[in-house]
Amino acid sequence: MRTIMNLAQKKRIVLGITGGIAAYKAAELARLLVKQGMEVQVAMTDAATHFITPTTMQALTGQPVLLNQWQDEKGMLHIQSSRAADAIVIAPATADFMAKLAHGLADDLLSTLCLARNCPLLVAPAMNRQMWSNPATQRNVHQLVRDGAVLLGPDDGLQACGEEGMGRMLEAEMLAQYIQAMLGSSTTGHAMQGMHVLMTAGPTYEAIDAVRGITNRSSGKMGYAIAEAAQEMGARVTLVSGPVALKAPVGVQVVAVTSAAEMFEAVKQHVSQADMFIGVAAVADYRVAEPSAQKIKKDGHGLTLQLVQNPDILAYVAGLPEPPFCVGFAAESEKLREYAERKRQSKKLPLLAANLAQQAIGADQNEIILFDDAGEHQLPRADKKTQARELLRHAVSLYQKGKMQ
Ligand code: C5P
Repeated sequence: MRTIMNLAQKKRIVLGITGGIAAYKAAELARLLVKQGMEVQVAMTDAATHFITPTTMQALTGQPVLLNQWQDEKGMLHIQSSRAADAIVIAPATADFMAKLAHGLADDLLSTLCLARNCPLLVAPAMNRQMWSNPATQRNVHQLVRDGAVLLGPDDGLQACGEEGMGRMLEAEMLAQYIQAMLGSSTTGHAMQGMHVLMTAGPTYEAIDAVRGITNRSSGKMGYAIAEAAQEMGARVTLVSGPVALKAPVGVQVVAVTSAAEMFEAVKQHVSQADMFIGVAAVADYRVAEPSAQKIKKDGHGLTLQLVQNPDILAYVAGLPEPPFCVGFAAESEKLREYAERKRQSKKLPLLAANLAQQAIGADQNEIILFDDAGEHQLPRADKKTQARELLRHAVSLYQKGKMQ
């Protein structure tokens, strides 16, 4: 009985390996995916075979490796293999292969397979930091994300060439965990499949001068937990983040900003594609009217700063002619219910999550009350990731109801 159940649920992954030194990590990834009970079909580009042998991959997966489109007599290998897959994972993905994907080229078996797919495409880039930051690569990355591909990494750190920076492929264990979460998670489901979620998180930093600034106390943990949970529930997530000491969640597109003005610009740039907007950031309400480019010297007297109000990003998004479904946050130090509901009304939000600032800031656990048109819903005290999932489930059900009306 158990075996039948397992067979019925067995997920099929096409693991595409392209030609970079991180190809050796693909062996470990294949081993972990097989261990997790998945069926792994490896497809390698010609360049990949210079880094790791098809024999190794065949031994680990128990399946012959796909190497070129002429292997199959009927010439339909690309269609069959991609139709049978629950996901295609490219690990490592070289700059060259991502360029091909971004442009829809199909000049070898693996790229053809990607173009012919009707399943999610997960891409784990691996390349030298200079190649990663090259505007051409960044253009291709953005195009891929816009086309719905899920980007896994890259990571920051020491590279095979001896340089240090962005471009390392994520470790096999992390990739395996992510793939498992995306394909197999029975706890989260895929309630957000096909949705694009735009979010803000963290604090903003408003410069006073070259070294000083005004900011809010926010670790970014809640926002990052929501981004991760939304991603696991199948959404494409763009996270506009103020300065935080957190790692970008795997598969989430992070747009790093510093000030509220930059956060506003980034949100305006992405909002037209968003189905849902979640404003978790603790945006500074004020910025210095004229920040000094140089450090202001002490002169024994006081210092008067003129502050001007920052735009309210959430209110702007909620006030658009065709706004995405908007979720706000409110951290209050007192009169939580009264202030939260007032905030929800004034910003015209279908949903607002409120918590007590003194309980929430920097903490790993959180107590949240949700306010919507139907009233309030208390979420039990739990870690931020659990709360994030609960919040998203509630948001998705309201979003879907709204679409049916
Ligand atoms: O600061 P306030 O309590 O009004 O924040 C409530 C909500 O509004 C939060 O979701 C926050 O992210 C958002 N907000 C914003 N832009 C601001 C101020 C707040 O998006 N300038």
